[in-house]
Amino acid sequence: MCGIVGMVGREDVVPYLMEGLKRLEYRGYDSAGVAVPGPEELQSRRAVGRLAALEQKLLSSPLSATCGIGHTRWATHGEPSERNSHPHMDAAKNLAVVHNGIIENYLELKDTLIEAGVGFLSDTDTEVLTHHIARKTADGDFLDGFRAALGDARGAYALGVIHRGEPGVVYAARLGSPLIVGRGPAGLFIASDVPAILPHVDQVIYLKDGELARLSETGIEVFSLDGTPQSAEWVKVDLEDHAADAAGFETFMLKEIHEQPRVIRGLLEKYVPGGKEIHLPDLSMSDEVLRGIERIMIVSCGTAYYAAMYGRLLIEKFTGIPVETDLGSEFRYRDPKIAKNTLVIAVSQSGETADTLASIKMARGAGCPVLSICNVAGSSLVRESDHIIYTRAGPEIGVASTKAFTAQLTAFALFTLHAGKVRGELRAAENAVLLRELQDIPNGIHYVLGREDEIREVAGKHHEGPSALYLGRRFNYPMALEGALKNKEISYQHAEGYAAGEMKHGPIALINEYLPVICICTETEDEVAEKMISNMREVDARGGRIIAIATQGDTRVDGLAEDVIHVPRARECFSPLINVVALQLLAYYAAQARGTDIDKPRNLAKSVTVE
Ligand code: F6R
Repeated sequence: MCGIVGMVGREDVVPYLMEGLKRLEYRGYDSAGVAVPGPEELQSRRAVGRLAALEQKLLSSPLSATCGIGHTRWATHGEPSERNSHPHMDAAKNLAVVHNGIIENYLELKDTLIEAGVGFLSDTDTEVLTHHIARKTADGDFLDGFRAALGDARGAYALGVIHRGEPGVVYAARLGSPLIVGRGPAGLFIASDVPAILPHVDQVIYLKDGELARLSETGIEVFSLDGTPQSAEWVKVDLEDHAADAAGFETFMLKEIHEQPRVIRGLLEKYVPGGKEIHLPDLSMSDEVLRGIERIMIVSCGTAYYAAMYGRLLIEKFTGIPVETDLGSEFRYRDPKIAKNTLVIAVSQSGETADTLASIKMARGAGCPVLSICNVAGSSLVRESDHIIYTRAGPEIGVASTKAFTAQLTAFALFTLHAGKVRGELRAAENAVLLRELQDIPNGIHYVLGREDEIREVAGKHHEGPSALYLGRRFNYPMALEGALKNKEISYQHAEGYAAGEMKHGPIALINEYLPVICICTETEDEVAEKMISNMREVDARGGRIIAIATQGDTRVDGLAEDVIHVPRARECFSPLINVVALQLLAYYAAQARGTDIDKPRNLAKSVTVE
């Protein structure tokens, strides 16, 4: 999603702005731009496409100043084009604005501006807000006018603003979209996330909703929307939490797929310190509260939603608590029946997903305790939650989620074993066996990573068709959905995930000799595996091309599947952590064969901070 960077420096800020924009590339964007004060008016350079296009413009027409703002845009209002890219300026070039979020009442504001004779060059809500701020700040104190303009705006924003009246000052404001302020030896910064400015800051302030900041050579001042000075909290930047490089892998995504055994092992070591007892330090939930939970509602979006579906099965099986799941974008607009003893769990890698955030605000409004399973310390979600389990996967730069997902599954497993024990649903001996099996999962993932070449070959055979079908049952049904999502996200091959038992109710019509059908049929303890084999026979009978994910040594798939990817034996409830890694690699190598931009798939954003 859009990225913001801004700086007040001691030397030319343009190289810092460009570096910041590069570090924001992983969020997804389709155009970019920078603006700085010039000798007379503000000056900007903007370009569609990758940052290289903007760099070219800056080479042929350089900018230089000790203060400025930059932006990577992910189109919402208006096509990706130079005229729609940020920064936007008023007609007199007195004011330049970069914006993340959506101004919901922009048409209303636009009508008033049109009546006042203002002309528009773009289709964006940001340009409307720019003209509105320009009008409100035309006379009098800039900060007062800026506050008044923001008071008129409805929706979500993170803003970076410069104006001609104070050529060494950057203003920032936040409502609903994340924004941080940082300081370091080279100067003061604003950014939409820490990685953008990581090499240059040692401390940051996470601006709160409704806060504004003024950055100048004398320092940083923070105000509330009514103008009251705020005492903001400086937080030390933990390099380990944010540092990221591809470490010799051809993409971040491949590196992150390979990091999974280490991430999960690390998570287990952190939360099971002596290897036997689960200790979740940020859960901060007394046994009494845990015993009193009558219902759980899990809310999330995208891949994190499939983690939620997995979490539901696990929690229901081992704790006896009834669980529902919902997508953030659906939950927030329905009338959910939640009460004080409903624990609402939000799952999010970024902790900034707009729909997930809105959902937990609703839940808190209804008096429900909120537990977040989240990867980013200091994120909006974490700050809004009563209870937290950090997924500790480190920065995930590939847009398609991999290690954060398996870390979410692990977090659910740990929460479940802990809750099952506290609520007396899991006997100590059973709990210990489950925990030991969970601790063995990183070895299973290692094994799958060792079969990468084989998986690449399988992907190479099946990537050409227009579509693929993914089937799974029970714990592996959410993995079928996740496998299909990974495939379509990065390879752009259409893919459907289905509960295998549903196939007869519609998707079976798709099956022909061209359709790859990826069947997750690892062994289970009961009849589910047999059912899965029957579903595969149905596919086979209609000529479908089966790719099976099967347990090592299981011969039932022989003769049925065109290709088999073998995975090590694991208890069904933990097998998704292993099986999904095979699906990630399958999608990865299909994408590689199709020549897509794997780390930055088209149209996608890493952190979806708008509805
Ligand atoms: C898919 C993917 C997305 C995210 C979704 C939620 O690979 O990454 O579907 O899972 O946008 O994002 P978070 O987890 O940041 O709330």
